[in-house]
Amino acid sequence: MAKIEVTRTELVWPGKYDENGKRREVERISLPFQVIERVNESRATREARRDRGLTLFDVWKGDEGETFEEGWRNKLIWGDNKLVMSSLLDQFAGKIDLIYIDPPFATGADFSVDVLVGDEGTALSKEQSILEEKAYRDTWGSGLDTYLEMLVPRLALIRELLSDRGSLYLHLGVQVNHVIRLALEEVFSASNIVDEIVWSYGTPSGGRAAGNKLIKAHEYIIYAVKRYGSHEYNKEHLPYDAKYIEERFTFTDETGRRYRTRGRGGGVVERQYLDESKGVPLSTVWSDIKQTYALHLVKRAQEETGFRTQKPEALLERIIKISTRPGDLVADFFCGSGTTMAVAEKLGRRWIGCDLGRYAIHVSRKRMLGIENCRPFEVLNLGKYERRYWQVATFGEDLDDDGAISLYEYVAFILKLYGATPTTGLQHLHGKRGTAFVHVGAVDAPVTIGEVAACVEECVALKAGELHVLGWEWEMGMNDLVSEEAKRQGVKVVLRQIPREVMEAEAARKGDVQFFELAYLEASVEPTGNQREFTVALENFVIPNPELVPDDVREKITKWSDYVDYWAADWDFRDDTFMQGWVTYRTRKDRKLKLRSDPHAYAEPGEYAVMVKVIDVFGNDSSKILRVSVS
Ligand SMILES: C[S@@+](CC[C@H](N)C(=O)[O-])C[C@H]1O[C@@H](n2cnc3c(N)ncnc32)[C@H](O)[C@@H]1O
Repeated sequence: MAKIEVTRTELVWPGKYDENGKRREVERISLPFQVIERVNESRATREARRDRGLTLFDVWKGDEGETFEEGWRNKLIWGDNKLVMSSLLDQFAGKIDLIYIDPPFATGADFSVDVLVGDEGTALSKEQSILEEKAYRDTWGSGLDTYLEMLVPRLALIRELLSDRGSLYLHLGVQVNHVIRLALEEVFSASNIVDEIVWSYGTPSGGRAAGNKLIKAHEYIIYAVKRYGSHEYNKEHLPYDAKYIEERFTFTDETGRRYRTRGRGGGVVERQYLDESKGVPLSTVWSDIKQTYALHLVKRAQEETGFRTQKPEALLERIIKISTRPGDLVADFFCGSGTTMAVAEKLGRRWIGCDLGRYAIHVSRKRMLGIENCRPFEVLNLGKYERRYWQVATFGEDLDDDGAISLYEYVAFILKLYGATPTTGLQHLHGKRGTAFVHVGAVDAPVTIGEVAACVEECVALKAGELHVLGWEWEMGMNDLVSEEAKRQGVKVVLRQIPREVMEAEAARKGDVQFFELAYLEASVEPTGNQREFTVALENFVIPNPELVPDDVREKITKWSDYVDYWAADWDFRDDTFMQGWVTYRTRKDRKLKLRSDPHAYAEPGEYAVMVKVIDVFGNDSSKILRVSVS
């Protein structure tokens, strides 16, 4: 290791400097975004912008303007925020006015989300069936150095994304605040660190009151700006408390208004009326905002999403009001249940949210849909580009471009996580688990019906009776066609989704990865009798892995629809982005789910494809395409 010349007070951790004593650069990789879903957007707008040609998804071009009139859509991005932020730089460097982040606090713990199942009960009732699922892992808990390695490059990207008026609010626990503050000073410079806010979040109770130490009742929010002096700052006030009013506003005028007097010099005495007073200017200690779980019942029922580390809306409301104006762009790159976006939406700000967890994306999407008059937003990911990047970064570059080395390592890695062992000498079959052969789909292309047919043929030749196909994406209509055809040939085919968690090193290391079987979905589209008017009905939904539902919850499941949490229809699907035309979903307050859509009237006769998309209680997507002939 080369000697590092220390010329100032600084925080040093293993990995900060390279072997030549040079500060490691932040990688700036720019990958294209795919638009996987559009919400609350009219068909006409979509038509005007549609990318011609048959792709699985639209690629986001970033050519929209900065207002909804110019075509702006808010963005919910599913992916690792390091790649997401560096890919956003081309379009958004210097454009984001406020970034709030609430990263995991390096506790090493796993955090869960409570998913309600079925029609009965409400979130706060005892009889509700609750599935406790893992929402995310605090995988940076293997030491402060790995935490710094994770967060510091992200802070550098955040700084580049901020506008000159922009602010960062970095929410941290007591475990990491002290070191991150020093690291942040290095990235933003000490003169741009405005304040350290102490969020004193409420009265601790139960387990937190036990033990032989003081009770932890606060978290920190470090408030930094891109350029001190140019930053947006709107002074906020808290109402005076009753005692203060009683003691200070001691006079009442002839109309009954309360006031106090202030000497202005020269014998001038001014009246300050209570009803004209703004209150106490906000300090750096915020003790008037409670944790979500400690809110009173009505407010709690309105806000709570089941996401355990969800922050209260009042906290974000305060931050957004201090540091932005209506129309400004607000982002949260560790968005969890979507609190920042929900508040930004309600306050008329534009927003970008990002998270790598599928529950976070699903919970956030539902939360946004539940906001009255929610403006158009789109769900994006880096899809195959992110997977391809991960494959090369993890298994090495394919130097002679024949795919051999990195592909072999990739396949072996997936097989290992799946509990299978590699086979040799076969063409399409990569491994074996028990008596079943296993085929692993490529990272950058959907598994095709032809590909599965070739595997089935190889199984038939080997007289093997079971085939497991693992894929990231699937050719449309795969599930229905393949299973039938294979059964005819005497091979049982099981199609399983490769989850994005395989790209998270810690999840993979722990072997903590579930390959869900593709669910089976039946739906139909029917005319209503009115001209060119149709409805879609959901008719059946089969989860192939009910054993993943704990016994006590499974006992309460009485019908197939209990597994469905959300479903939507695109009335005119064109082999690209799913365009939500109608949607229904369960909320924590209203557990009922419609199984037939509202009617949709087509403006023009023609042949249409209707895409039905279901999200189940595990947060997994299933879809089906139905054909409709409109005369
Ligand atoms: C403490 S939670 C955020 C909670 C959020 N403030 C709320 O109100 O719901 C942290 C979130 O960061 C996400 N996360 C962790 N590492 C990430 C990464 N590298 N990229 C994107 N999201 C990440 C987790 O999935 C989790 O949802």
